[in-house]
Amino acid sequence: MELPDYVKAKQRSKNKELDEQYVFNSNLSTIGVGKKYFIKTYGCQMNEHDTENIKAMIEKMGYSYVDNYKEADLVILNTCSIRENAHNKAFGMLGRLKHLKEEKKDLIIGLCGCMAQEEGVISEIINKRKYVDFVIGTHNLHHLPEVLNKTISLNKQEIEVFSKEGNIVEGIPVKRDNPYKAYVNIIYGCDKFCTYCIVPFTRGKQRSRNPKDIILEVEELVKDGYKEVTLLGQNVNAYGKDFDYQYNMENLLEDVAKTGIPRIFFMTSHPWDFTDGMIDVIAKYENIMPFVHLPVQSGSSRVLKLMGRRYTKEEYITLFDKIRERIPGVVISTDIIVGFPTETEEDFNETLDLVEHCKYDSAYTFIYSPREKTPAAEFKEQIDESVKEDRLYKLNELINKYSLESNKKLENKTVSVLVEGEGTKKKILFGYTDTKKLINFPGDKSLIGKIVKVKVVDAKSWSLDGEYVGE
Ligand code: 5AD
Ligand code: SF4
Repeated sequence: MELPDYVKAKQRSKNKELDEQYVFNSNLSTIGVGKKYFIKTYGCQMNEHDTENIKAMIEKMGYSYVDNYKEADLVILNTCSIRENAHNKAFGMLGRLKHLKEEKKDLIIGLCGCMAQEEGVISEIINKRKYVDFVIGTHNLHHLPEVLNKTISLNKQEIEVFSKEGNIVEGIPVKRDNPYKAYVNIIYGCDKFCTYCIVPFTRGKQRSRNPKDIILEVEELVKDGYKEVTLLGQNVNAYGKDFDYQYNMENLLEDVAKTGIPRIFFMTSHPWDFTDGMIDVIAKYENIMPFVHLPVQSGSSRVLKLMGRRYTKEEYITLFDKIRERIPGVVISTDIIVGFPTETEEDFNETLDLVEHCKYDSAYTFIYSPREKTPAAEFKEQIDESVKEDRLYKLNELINKYSLESNKKLENKTVSVLVEGEGTKKKILFGYTDTKKLINFPGDKSLIGKIVKVKVVDAKSWSLDGEYVGE
């Protein structure tokens, strides 16, 4: 049994991690034959992509996927720690699984993802939730087949959570959910330690994947007919900072663009590391999409300082305006937290003022949620829930106004769309524009998987309606 330890998780060693190749123990390839598994994913794209790895590893053990957990012999929850409600959802699901296990004694229940890295969660699982059969952490996910095998053969609770990150593991099998769009990890972990955030603890030290491994993966995707990649990381702009040679996000974007993959997205960007060189590369290459997710978190420089964000409202606006100016047609989205400890009405008004200036195309807005062992959770002046809710409501009204405005600007314009499938209505296709806007339009199924031209005829807050123009 190996348990999480926050003191170790917080340390940042200078050690350079090595690359390690995933090896599958072929003795385990029949364990799941004739058995079904279900997996539920919470949280960000990083977790969605981990789930694609989990599915492939589990299927190599003989299991087959079922989309109803009640029919499964193995249920895995790939969890998220970012806010209390993500926790509550996962614990709620565990409760339902406990009942299921009372009827189905052989059911195996596993938990992985960010919650697995939390000391509090693990002590609850050991002491109060003995029906959970195994827990595996984010740094050793590639041990999943071995851990699952141990749980089954020893018939006891197995917990394997490493607090130190270890090597970058290449070659973990993947079963991608979408045949046209793929996630590609470029950097793991985060060293920013924003005072509200649990991610530097759950995902460890910042570690960049080797450029040659990334390019090779994208080249394979091109060969397999993929049309789009999203380069993933908690802070992609910090890519390469841990190398002992000069190669950064700007270089990587350029090299990925040269593979010829038709569409490249990347996320998430921290404003601190966004260089002029990156802006130039995005503007230069047609296949790097004009879309930037640039979380601001707050419009008050005082709150930003307490959050440990390393920029002021003015510095953020300068960067924002530069991106808008230099990348034609760019769409910028953001993340905002309301109700951070000590946030006054005046601070909140600064956030509204910033939104008035930036007129974001879209934004994810959150109520501050205290997280175990993070500095902000210890701040004395926590804000009342009702005040947080009022602020969120007010902020969302403004955000929605500008989202609609942003969509309305596209009316009567022709946009490029990657067609993903047919919606619930027959003969109505759906897809995403080059700035990640959802669009529906009448068309033939033969267009699925292609990038086509569509004219926008009606814009709503959350989606667009269009007319097919041609390929
Ligand atoms: N409470 C609320 N929102 C948070 N986020 C991160 N930590 C917290 C927290 N403790 C938000 C930030 C981040 C997004 C992924 O989640 O806005 O950018
Ligand atoms: Fe949630 Fe963050 Fe973990 Fe993603 S990295 S699953 S957002 S806590």
